[in-house]
Amino acid sequence: MQKVKLLATAAMGLESIVAMEVKQLGYEVEVDNGKVIFEAPISAIPRCNLWLRTADRVKIIVGEFEAKTFDELFEGTKALNWENYIAEDGQFPVSGKSVKSTLYSVPDCQAIVKKAIAERLKLKYGMVSKMPETGALFKVEISLLNDVATLTLDTSGAGLHKRGYRVGQGEAPLKETLAAALVLLTNWKPDEPFIDPFCGSGTIPIEAALIGQNIAPGFNREFVSEKWSWIRSKFWDEALLEAEDLANYDQPLDITGSDISHKMIQAASENAIEAGLSDLVTWKQMQVADLSIQKENGYLVSNPPYGERLNERDEVIQMYNDLGQVMRNYPSWSVYIITAFEAFEKQYGQQATKKRKLFNGFIQTNYYQYFGKKVKGE
Ligand SMILES: C[S@@+](CC[C@H](N)C(=O)[O-])C[C@H]1O[C@@H](n2cnc3c(N)ncnc32)[C@H](O)[C@@H]1O
Repeated sequence: MQKVKLLATAAMGLESIVAMEVKQLGYEVEVDNGKVIFEAPISAIPRCNLWLRTADRVKIIVGEFEAKTFDELFEGTKALNWENYIAEDGQFPVSGKSVKSTLYSVPDCQAIVKKAIAERLKLKYGMVSKMPETGALFKVEISLLNDVATLTLDTSGAGLHKRGYRVGQGEAPLKETLAAALVLLTNWKPDEPFIDPFCGSGTIPIEAALIGQNIAPGFNREFVSEKWSWIRSKFWDEALLEAEDLANYDQPLDITGSDISHKMIQAASENAIEAGLSDLVTWKQMQVADLSIQKENGYLVSNPPYGERLNERDEVIQMYNDLGQVMRNYPSWSVYIITAFEAFEKQYGQQATKKRKLFNGFIQTNYYQYFGKKVKGE
């Protein structure tokens, strides 16, 4: 097998950023129905898992075919070359979903796919009894959409947002993948000042620091496909070496995270230490009304409270007022705020230059973007 067809899954609204990241790794992508699909050599599996900051997972598309009956699903699945991927002793649990399709009973589809793969593997490996399923993990997914069955294998294991650095977290932590996307959606350059005044457990400043020093986000974790014998360990070694080579640990950064809560600042600094960035981000306990900035041309990127509980509304309105008032003193700064609070612009006191709809988990939010007027000579 020379090439694999890969799918980088993404939260709704982030597909174009994931596509950009995949392209930057050197692969041609196709974005279809919000799916980022690309054909690539096997070495892309370690590289994409290590480097993609905004994707949820990297999956292999084993096959796609129309299936309106259980028979078609069984035969179509059995016809795919599973033996190229799943080892003789591999465990292959099957999960599923069905949208707008004749075959809507997901448990039945899962059972049929499981049976078809087992039959194929028994035939290819010359087994008579049950597959042992004692070895490496190969998570299969059957996904039906408009009667088309797509069969995938997950190469990531834990979702890619699990970078391995989050030891402490607050009430509403942002997913690391979304935090990275918020940073990538700005024009921030690593040598420019960066502040998150509602930093909570520090996700946005930490992701900015990783981006600033070009550190691969998956450097500190494991992936399920590391145990697959057909992905030669040299591909993993090469990907890690490449990541080590490309990391720019000498890049100076000017990143600050602040929060009203001492506890959160403590958690954020522990997370930064875990991420290997202990002295790269400055953490401060401070309320947003006290924010004072000495530099020009910076970026403020933040995920403040949304005021979803009625008793928090007045407090949140005050906070947005304070933020708007403070930032009017710094017109060279660009401000990026993700919130579900509908009247954010009114409370901030200014219309955003640009807005983008994003989902924070299941919450629909807007990403309000205010472009600063850069001061020359800084
Ligand atoms: C939605 S959380 C941020 C979560 C963060 N992005 C993370 O990933 O952990 C909002 C944060 O705003 C902080 N906060 C609330 N009121 C504040 C204020 N007036 N000034 C500064 N921070 C405040 C809270 O302590 C909380 O940590």
